Amino acid sequence: MSESQNMNYAYSPPWHDTHIIGIAGSSGSGKTSVAAQLVKLLNLPWVVVLSMDSFYKELTPDQSKLAFANNYDFDSPDAIDFDILVDRLRDLKAGKKAEIPIYSFEKHQRVPNKNTTIYSCHVLILEGIFALYDPRVLELLDMKIFVDTDSDICLARRLARDVKSRGRDVRGALQQWHRFVKPNFELYVRPQMKNADIAIPRGIDNLTAIAMVVKHIQRALNAKSEAHLKKIAELGEKVLEK
Ligand code: C5P
Repeated sequence: MSESQNMNYAYSPPWHDTHIIGIAGSSGSGKTSVAAQLVKLLNLPWVVVLSMDSFYKELTPDQSKLAFANNYDFDSPDAIDFDILVDRLRDLKAGKKAEIPIYSFEKHQRVPNKNTTIYSCHVLILEGIFALYDPRVLELLDMKIFVDTDSDICLARRLARDVKSRGRDVRGALQQWHRFVKPNFELYVRPQMKNADIAIPRGIDNLTAIAMVVKHIQRALNAKSEAHLKKIAELGEKVLEK
């Protein structure tokens, strides 16, 4: 059988109803790795990961000074521009393209005059510490996941990443963790678990849970695809009747 004969031509979910999956969890819990694994296992051409990091608000000069001294609270929902996020998600869900800001963790600000364009896709994975927080976002999500990883592991991963790729030193990163990240995890992040359809204990190490999530997404996409094709066939029949 040729490669083209092997392809499933019947698979055709509608572009105007992007399937959006939200992944929340502590900083360092492995949200990005879980998202990457879902992309790999879904093995579809139109899967895009959107990080909520792109939606941190602009800082005033005074706030910026605090940020460089590791004294700014980036772990409160107030730090996120949910209005822009919701706007972009609504566009993508409706099959439109969206301009997404690029964020620099080293400079604590958006990269000036630079955006990424995301075109509407079959599956969009939104990952971030507040992915299951805003009711307007929750309304747009087709599946809600919470990555539940031991806090010591989260801290170890975060320290390594902050020093290696976010321009921080261990002392400052630890200060930020204890002052903001840890208390706000309890206050705002962990409570989002109640909004989740599924919690993934141990994150990326939990291959069984990730396989179940993939199966669930595939089933949902196939159902959407079948309904979409049925609608097109009915329209075709109506045209023929005329
Ligand atoms: O990738 P991750 O989910 O860890 O990103 C969220 C974390 O990024 C937050 O816990 C926040 O403390 C941190 N952050 C930061 N500096 C910024 C913006 C966010 O350390 N300028």
